[in-house]
Amino acid sequence: MLISVWGKNGAGKSTISANLACWLAIKGSRTALVGANRFYGAIQHYFGLDLGPEQSLRNVLSEKDSMDIRRCFVEYGQLKALSVASLSNEDDVIGRQRMRPETAARFLELTDRSFERTIIDCDESTDDALSMLSLVMSDKVLYVTKPGVQFAVFARACESLVGGLRIEDKLRVVCNADKRRQELSDCGAFNVKKDIFALPYCRDVESSGDAGKPFMLARGAGRRGSRYRRALGEIGLWLEKPGADGQA
Ligand SMILES: Nc1ncnc2c1ncn2[C@@H]1O[C@H](COP(=O)(O)OP(=O)(O)O)[C@@H](O)[C@H]1O
Ligand SMILES: [Mg+2]
Repeated sequence: MLISVWGKNGAGKSTISANLACWLAIKGSRTALVGANRFYGAIQHYFGLDLGPEQSLRNVLSEKDSMDIRRCFVEYGQLKALSVASLSNEDDVIGRQRMRPETAARFLELTDRSFERTIIDCDESTDDALSMLSLVMSDKVLYVTKPGVQFAVFARACESLVGGLRIEDKLRVVCNADKRRQELSDCGAFNVKKDIFALPYCRDVESSGDAGKPFMLARGAGRRGSRYRRALGEIGLWLEKPGADGQA
């Protein structure tokens, strides 16, 4: 199952992607995490990984027989991670060019086949092939937003794209609270008539980003931490269910 995490930069995509991947892996799913941002390897940062993949994507994709996409991923505890920012010139991301659509499609297809759950931390840019294809190919999409006018404006702009890509049925909105503790009602309109997931602001989550370790793997989270964990678990349960709307 492919799961896209999408939204404006700063909304909390990478944090949610990394923590959800940990949640799924801890629960026993064979989980992959893909960071699609070409310029900033937030995924590498959160996991303290600065090495590129053992095998270049291009090499593996060009193999006929023993092709194993898992070799492009770096192992981190119970999950495997890959950041596009760590791909070399050998790959299709030469000079920070965008990945070609054929490569992106093949990569997503193979990754989906090799893992039970794959979380893609999308780039906000609508002309990034990997991110746009992942929205289309994913079984589920989490649209992450935050309080504030710029996030509401971005959400408005995305609404028409959601219609155009026909991803409405598999999309759920996540409202990530900010430091001022504003929640749900301030998150701006997003014309999806479904339940919205809400994540509380959590100081431990914020500091875990700087510490280079996803919050879900850190010990001794306080009371506010447990609120975040619970809210994250609700999203995790939805992702564990088969079917686009979690009803199937
Ligand atoms: N629920 C939260 N509580 C506290 N801080 C958060 C929360 N979600 C994200 N952050 C912080 O907000 C910042 C931006 O998050 P990030 O995941 O990098 O956003 P994006 O990937 O969408 O650009 C990071 O410093 C992160 O630690
Ligand atoms: Mg990010």
